[in-house]
Amino acid sequence: KKASIGVTGLAVMGRNLARNLARHGHTVALHNRSEQRTRELAEQFGSEGDFIPAYSAREFVNALERPRQVVVMVKAGAPTDAVIDEFAELLEPGDVIVDAGNAHFADTRRREAALRERGLHFVGTGVSGGEEGALHGPSIMPGGSKESYESLGPLLEDIAAKVDGTPCCAHIGPDGAGHFVKMVHNGIEYADMQLIAESFDLLRGALGYEPARIAEIFRTWNTGRLDSYLIEITAEVLAHTDAATGKPFVDVVLDQAEQKGTGRWTVQIGLDLGIPITGIAEATFARSLSGHANLRAATKGLGGPSRTPLSGSEAERFADDVEQALYASKVVAYAQGFNQIQAGSAEYGWNVDLGSVASLWRGGCIIRAKFLDDIRAAFEAGPELPTLLTSGDFRKAVEDAQDAWRSVVSTAVRLGIPTPGFSTALAYYDGLRADRLPAALVQGQRDYFGAHTYRRVDGEGSFHTEWATEARAERPA
Ligand code: 6PG
Repeated sequence: KKASIGVTGLAVMGRNLARNLARHGHTVALHNRSEQRTRELAEQFGSEGDFIPAYSAREFVNALERPRQVVVMVKAGAPTDAVIDEFAELLEPGDVIVDAGNAHFADTRRREAALRERGLHFVGTGVSGGEEGALHGPSIMPGGSKESYESLGPLLEDIAAKVDGTPCCAHIGPDGAGHFVKMVHNGIEYADMQLIAESFDLLRGALGYEPARIAEIFRTWNTGRLDSYLIEITAEVLAHTDAATGKPFVDVVLDQAEQKGTGRWTVQIGLDLGIPITGIAEATFARSLSGHANLRAATKGLGGPSRTPLSGSEAERFADDVEQALYASKVVAYAQGFNQIQAGSAEYGWNVDLGSVASLWRGGCIIRAKFLDDIRAAFEAGPELPTLLTSGDFRKAVEDAQDAWRSVVSTAVRLGIPTPGFSTALAYYDGLRADRLPAALVQGQRDYFGAHTYRRVDGEGSFHTEWATEARAERPA
């Protein structure tokens, strides 16, 4: 018997994907650079399904039925290229190579084009949900040709998470579309995590609550419109006590956030496409700021306001206000992320269905959340929606939340609690709804010092003012 799919690269993600496939009744060929891992997997988990362990690339390829489907699960970058090159030599036209790692979509476009020349399909796919997701049902975002999805899609849909019976997997679009969408997923993940972290910081700083008490608040929020995986795990992390010291876990963790780079990519591409993804950018910079230990040490003691905790009715309302500010800021962050997908799709001709993306993020992935179902509905009702902020229900929710949102941001400013995520989201909202922006003045400045020209509100074309003569003439003597 031959295998319907093979996995090469059997570190934890690859191993769990292979087990998930086998558990769903698919025969899975296994391969890893070091034989040890292949053997271990087959021995430890052989009872879960049908595995064909292979100890050379050729043996692995020969174990696969045609069209061969090879899932590559190795480190992004050079290691991925090396493995692809190795297998491209052994495969035949019509076969499919799947890169399920967090590759940069530009690399995926390059690889897809190169392999297409050789008659091979290359599928760059986003897979979200961490180790647990890979084993029990991730959210899967495959790019590549429609044809490759015909053979590969059914297997991926089998192992994906399901929400209301719908698999959290759908063909995203050609070449790099899948990895692009996964990249934006991670960018939104950064923004969401930052907003949640700011909420915690506010509740602690303005109310003086202990982490365990804040965990309870998050638990309550998780029963409402904020219901999501990230809120759920936040409550768990905050309720956790460090075994060694007996202190709240969050107080013994070094406060310097790291990143592997997908958030940074999202911001870089946002700049390239000219899409204001300010929530993702601030979240990425907030991690960066936290990591600058020397800068933070050097500026310790810089003056700030006194942090007298809130009292009276302001204190009573505060947790509820933060919930509203968090919800509104979250809507902004997701709206921006979806705009970036729209822009990428237009730039590269991918034709990405935003409703389908929202649908497959409802389960399995790190940003899975109840409100993604509302986002799905919004884009299904209006695929051309310019922004989520104008879709009926979100518009109303954000408008209803805005008083609380403004009050939370001003409290944060007053107490000197940094809330880059909340603040930038509100500034974006106010920036979009403004009748006039001071961009007009910026244009004037540009024209003054560089003759860069400006357009006028009352006519077509570009204009330039002779500043040296006109401005001088107007200046009072
Ligand atoms: C997922 C995660 C996953 C990974 C992130 C972590 O969707 O399953 O996003 O891809 O955990 O890359 O990212 P950072 O290390 O950059 O925070």
